[in-house]
Amino acid sequence: MMYSSSLCRHRAAACGRGTVEIGPGTPARAPFVRIAAILTFLLSVCCGAAFAEHPSGKDAVLIVAFGTSVEKARISYTNVEERVKKAFPDSVLRWAWSARSLLKKGPKDNPALSVQESLAKLAAEGVENVSVLSLHVIPGSEYADLLQNARAFEGLPKGLRHVRVAPPLLSDTESLRAVARLLLETVPAERGKDEGVLFVGHGTHHPSGVYYPALQYYLQAMDGNAFVGTVEGDLDVASVLRSMKGKGLRKVWMAPLMTVAGDHADNDLFGPEADSWKQRFTADGIQVRSIAKGLGEYPAFVARWIAGLEKTAGRESSR
Ligand code: CO
Repeated sequence: MMYSSSLCRHRAAACGRGTVEIGPGTPARAPFVRIAAILTFLLSVCCGAAFAEHPSGKDAVLIVAFGTSVEKARISYTNVEERVKKAFPDSVLRWAWSARSLLKKGPKDNPALSVQESLAKLAAEGVENVSVLSLHVIPGSEYADLLQNARAFEGLPKGLRHVRVAPPLLSDTESLRAVARLLLETVPAERGKDEGVLFVGHGTHHPSGVYYPALQYYLQAMDGNAFVGTVEGDLDVASVLRSMKGKGLRKVWMAPLMTVAGDHADNDLFGPEADSWKQRFTADGIQVRSIAKGLGEYPAFVARWIAGLEKTAGRESSR
């Protein structure tokens, strides 16, 4: 089934996917993913000379992020990279971006690669085991694509033996409870209990969009004035506004529920245009205090991502 309506307004430019596939559409694409994986792998072997740099180890960590075009938002990625280097000092470290529109950008000698390109390159360099850290918040369509790519590359002749993918930030009940608690800890102490807190995620039309209302359930069990919103999907600005007005809230602390505080935070959440979340709330008499930090800027969330990666890689947590 294909949806193309009510996608985020930066989707074409920043998110790179004009449509989102859900449900039965995903398995049907598996053969194509595998064929694409084989082709990418063969190409990288044939053009091996282009990859002059050869890793010394047989293990690699591949960090997969959506990518961002906003320079200041990279602080989240730098933060994650430092933590991964500490936890996996003997592994080759690589990045891949899932936003197609952002690929091939960046410095010429170090362009952003797709998941397929990165896995093919690692295989051509003789790496055997890849542990993949997914910096996604929910297991949505990009995470599903990542799992397909991992399976497609695993066990190709002379290729990668194991490609193991760590869970996204939200992946089960324990993660929902823990992330809800950590999110509330990010709110400045000066917030009064009669003031709302709102965490706005990207949103999706993928079935895993249920993680957003599920997270709100756990948040509200801990704090009755805490809400989750999404740029795309049902928890939109109008419905969150209705809920907050129903509670008589006059002030809200708003933060992105996104790995980086990039384009969506700058424009959809806090932008000066009349349709941004901040302006819509302000126009309706609810004062907004901005917490403009990405989840990757908080050690607590990065620690959860890394703990998941260590578990996936078969290691004890170094925390
Ligand atoms: Co988007």
